[in-house]
Order: sequence, then C-alpha cells, then structure tokens
Amino acid sequence: MSIAIAIDGPAGAGKSTISKAAAKQLGFIYIDTGALYRTVGLAATRRGVEPSEGKELDDMLSSISVELTFNEKGEQVVLLDGEDVSGSIRTPEASMMASKISAVPAVRAYLLDLQRDMAKTNNVIMDGRDIGTVVLPNAEIKIFLTAAPEARAERRYKELIEKGMDVKYEDVLDDVKTRDYNDMNRDIAPLKQADDAVLADTTELDLQGSIDLIVSIIKERS
Ligand code: DC
Repeated sequence: MSIAIAIDGPAGAGKSTISKAAAKQLGFIYIDTGALYRTVGLAATRRGVEPSEGKELDDMLSSISVELTFNEKGEQVVLLDGEDVSGSIRTPEASMMASKISAVPAVRAYLLDLQRDMAKTNNVIMDGRDIGTVVLPNAEIKIFLTAAPEARAERRYKELIEKGMDVKYEDVLDDVKTRDYNDMNRDIAPLKQADDAVLADTTELDLQGSIDLIVSIIKERS
C-alpha cells in the first residue's frame, strides 16, 4: 500500500522547497499541486478567459490537457497541452491568477482526480492548501506548515530578486496577504489546518532548520 504525507499551508511558507528536500531524504515522490492551479491559470491568461465561474471557463477546461510528469532528475514537470510550462507558471502574475482561478469549483473538480491518482500508485509528499482536508483526507501524516506573513514575503522577495525580477518588498508582502485572504476565504476547499494536522511554524527557522523539523515530524509518526 502507498503512503501519503499531506503538507498544507499559506503561500511562501517554504512548502515546496522543504517538501522536496524531505521527499528526497525519505525516498518519496514530491508533488507540488500549486503548479497545477498555476497551469490552469496560465491557460486562462493565454486564452483571455476570465478566472471566474462560467461557460467560457468550462469550455476551456474541456479542451485543455494538464499532465504531471517527472524529468530524469526526478523533478516535477507540468505539461499544458504537451508543452512544458514549469518555468512560465512562476511569475507573480501567474501566482495571482492561480489564486483567483483556484476559487472556481469547476477548476478544483477538474484537478481532484489527477491529484488522487498520483497518490494511489506512489508514496507521495503532496503539498498544497487542501491536501489534508479534501484531496487526501486519509493521508497517514498531515502537516500544516506556516510562518508569519512578513517572513514569507521576505523569502519570496529574495527568490524573485535572485531570479533577476524587478520587484518591491512591499508589493510582495501585499501579494502574500492578498493570496492568504483569497485562499482562506473562498467558499470551496479554503486553506485551513486539518483537525489532525501537526502545526509547523518556520518563522524563526532557516531552510535547513525547517527541513529538519519536517523530517523529524514525519519520522516520529511513521
Ligand atoms: O502553492 P502555490 O503558490 O504554487 O499555489 C498557487 C495557488 O494555487 C495558490 O494561491 C492557491 C492555489 N492552490 C490551491 O488552491 N490548492 C492547492 N492544493 C494548491 C494551490
């Protein structure tokens, strides 16, 4: 039987970096579900479709293909209609579009089976917003990974600057707060800690400290 570890939390808590490192140490496959919402958002941007409920978006969902694969390094690659969009989905605009489009029930329904299927056949660490509450409610281990908004904005700001993007810290903090609000207040599958999830706060921890914390939580419980 396969084992599933669900890691949920707000934007910029370091979920993907930490989950990826923990998966490597533990020999699990890492699945970043935010990339799927980003890919659907990118499809809408490219086609000029509004990120809101309606026929236009339904038509788009029935005509696109979103696939999750892995490259030779074992890293996740997302394909939109066969094209590798793993890089194009990482801009601040794509983040905001993903946050908006992820509130649409048809989009969440569209991505649900894809996520569940991955966990059926593999030992996974899956990160997102609703993995422990909706996608994999029976996950063996659930972690809610968070940090103060200012700490998350600071980390994201540094990442974007390192990538050569021209951004201001205040704008990144505003984006973090807006996305938190959108993610926590949507009607469907809002971001919240599952009752049986362990809380991990990384505000005061550096990356290695955060990875060690998550690996120790997993080892204690498995
Ligand atoms: O983790 P991320 O920043 O790449 O996610 C992008 C957006 O997708 C985020 O604003 C919320 C949404 N999301 C979601 O609603 N459910 C998930 N399981 C993962 C992401």
